[in-house]
Amino acid sequence: MRLPLVTILGECVADAFTVPTPARGELALRVLPGGGPANTAVALARLGTPARFLGRLSDDVFGRLFRGHLETSGVDLSAAVRAAEPSTLAVAELDAQGRAAYSFHAQGTADWQWTADELAAADLASTACLHSGSLALVREPGGTVVEEFLARASATATVSLDPNVRPLLVAPEVYRERLPRWCALADILRLSEDDLELLLPGHTIEHACDTWHAAGVPLVVITRGERGAVASLDGERTTVPAPPTEVVDTVGAGDSFTAGFLHHLGLRGLLGGRLTDLRIDDVFDACAFASQVAALTCATAGPNPPWAGQLRPATPTAGLTAS
Ligand code: RIB
Repeated sequence: MRLPLVTILGECVADAFTVPTPARGELALRVLPGGGPANTAVALARLGTPARFLGRLSDDVFGRLFRGHLETSGVDLSAAVRAAEPSTLAVAELDAQGRAAYSFHAQGTADWQWTADELAAADLASTACLHSGSLALVREPGGTVVEEFLARASATATVSLDPNVRPLLVAPEVYRERLPRWCALADILRLSEDDLELLLPGHTIEHACDTWHAAGVPLVVITRGERGAVASLDGERTTVPAPPTEVVDTVGAGDSFTAGFLHHLGLRGLLGGRLTDLRIDDVFDACAFASQVAALTCATAGPNPPWAGQLRPATPTAGLTAS
């Protein structure tokens, strides 16, 4: 069965993690290919969804790392742009729970230099879903062009967004100012509970979902780490537990969750257009499957999502639903 095509637009980031080193006065870094949208593309392709990545890939040492990683995962790079600028680098500091804080080296890097001409060349005819978000949506000069592209895509494709807030690089106010516009463009908004706290500090999940529905997005999914996920489809809610897992780190877990979610919707024939056939039980099932994908990502170092063979099929049983 050929699954519907998902196009992913956004950045690749070289994620650098410190590793123990015997030499005094030195710092050793282990660099893994990352970046929220690229992680989602890799996870989708590994699950078996045709995934096309619209990224600006440098020819530098990190750009070559990204290409190899995306291609060996099965991501279609035919629409990616070969960029003259350097790659983006992030140094990730992990806390005791395996959560990362990133300091970015992102000035003038390839990922934010989208031009209207580059994106005008991207063909959306066979795309059922466009997923974007993260830094490429918010960093200028490319962010505005990406937003215009989302508006174009929404005429024919389901639009999925993940703000993936990175407050050490972009001030939360910048996301807050743009979020209502993104909600008006998107069919699916997936974000972490940490991002919710940065975007609507002090507000409950219910209030946040209702605020974003009112701004135009029909489906909001909020992931809560080991506490699972809450989804709201036009105000009808469902809660999904997270499977137990031995956490190495949580890097890329949200990106993998989004991939699992979109993959499951595609498998059920629910991607494409405005999600008018989507029911809350479908949302529960997609979240349950996505939670497995995220849990397996947490069990490995860095953003290294699982392949299809590592997963159980999602249970068809509907979950706890309430209006
Ligand atoms: O969502 C995880 C990603 O966010 C990491 O791979 C890192 O690049 C950061 O931007």
